[in-house]
Formats: sequence, C-alpha cells, structure tokens
Amino acid sequence: MSKGLFITFEGGEGSGKTTQINRLAQNLAQKGHKVLTTREPGGTPEGEKIRDLLVRREGGNWTPIAETLLLFAARQMHVEKIIKPALEDGKIVISDRFYDSTTAYQGYGHGQDISIIENVRILSIGDFKPDLTLILDIDPQEGLRRSDRRLAAEQFQVKQREDRYEQLDVEFHERLRRGFLEIAGQEPERCHVIPALQDLDAVTAQIAEIVQTKIAG
Ligand code: TMP
Repeated sequence: MSKGLFITFEGGEGSGKTTQINRLAQNLAQKGHKVLTTREPGGTPEGEKIRDLLVRREGGNWTPIAETLLLFAARQMHVEKIIKPALEDGKIVISDRFYDSTTAYQGYGHGQDISIIENVRILSIGDFKPDLTLILDIDPQEGLRRSDRRLAAEQFQVKQREDRYEQLDVEFHERLRRGFLEIAGQEPERCHVIPALQDLDAVTAQIAEIVQTKIAG
C-alpha cells in the first residue's frame, strides 16, 4: 500500500497544464507536503530519450502500435523507478500526463484499438493507477492558438522544437478532447474535468479544492 498520493494532469495542447502543475506543487509544498513533479513521456533518463524519439520532428515516423509500446516502455520505468518509490516515501507525485494521454492521443486521436492499449497497459504497469486525474479541458481551436503563440515566442531559443504532435490537424485535437471527456465519464471517481478557459486563478482554486478534498478523504 502506498502512503503518498499520485495526481496526474491531462489535457490537449495549450490547456495550461504546466502553469497549473507548478502552482499546485508550490501550494502543496507551502502546506508542508513533500512533492515530486514529473512528466511523460519522460520521467527517467531512459524515458527522456524515448521522449526525444517521439516528440521531435526528426525523431522518426512511428506506427501507432510502435508509438504505444515506446510510451509504455518509458512509463513502466517511470512507475517502477520514480513514482512508486516516491509514493512509498509519502510524497505527493504530480505527473504532467500519464496513460490517459495514450488512450486519448494514440487511441482516440490516431485510431489505435483501445483494447490493445489496455492490454499493453496491463502488461507494463498492471493495475497501477493515479489516485486523482485532473483533465484541463479546452476548445482545440483556442488551445492550438495558445500553443502556436507559445511556440512562436520560443522558436528562436529552442533549437529543436517539440512540436510533432502539435502539427496535427484540428480534427485530431477534437477527437482527443472527446477521448479525454469519455475517459472522465467512465471513471468519475478518479477523473475531474476542469474548464481551462476560465481565469488562471479560478482554475488554480478549483484544482486546489479538488486536491484538498482528496487529501482530506
Ligand atoms: P506535452 O506537450 O504535454 O509535454 O506532451 C508531449 C506530447 O506527447 C503531447 O503532444 C502529447 C503526446 N503524448 C502522446 O501522444 N501520448 C502519450 O501517452 C503521452 C504521455 C504524450
């Protein structure tokens, strides 16, 4: 039995996950909790190498099943080497994306059979699940507009941009939004959908309340 709490953030491009993760981590640390923030794809040195293969333009042109296997290879090491030990140590672990992203992106987005993704999930990480998943929901047009703006601002500073997934079309992003909403509908205890187009502070407050309730419960 783990002693900590595992929280994941999910959502489409430009949903403001990173800002909200930083705010939540700071807020929890100020309250005296031990917090670890991490991300996927990535989380371990090996996982970060896999991230490069998946998200950089020149990383390769993977088939959906190969992409799913790479994501779960990275995830299996992330769970065993980073997440579980931190939970055993009583930490609150906050991950920027976890397996719901694979269901949404590779499944709903790219049309990979969801039951195959489920099988790979069970094979790699068994029944390990987040305690709480916060899905930041945004209209894809607006989300992409926001992330375009971010990329434009960064393009002279970052040599190789991590934008392979962001190049995909708007219908793809509509499908993944629907995917996240369906995942939330199937697991309402674990997943909370938060409208991301509100004022930043309002989103932060809503997240803090949900997390506080979980900690107290
Ligand atoms: P990020 O931009 O939130 O850091 O995520 C990197 C990209 O990786 C993002 O476009 C979503 C994509 N991704 C998948 O397609 N499947 C997954 O399982 C994960 C974790 C991320």
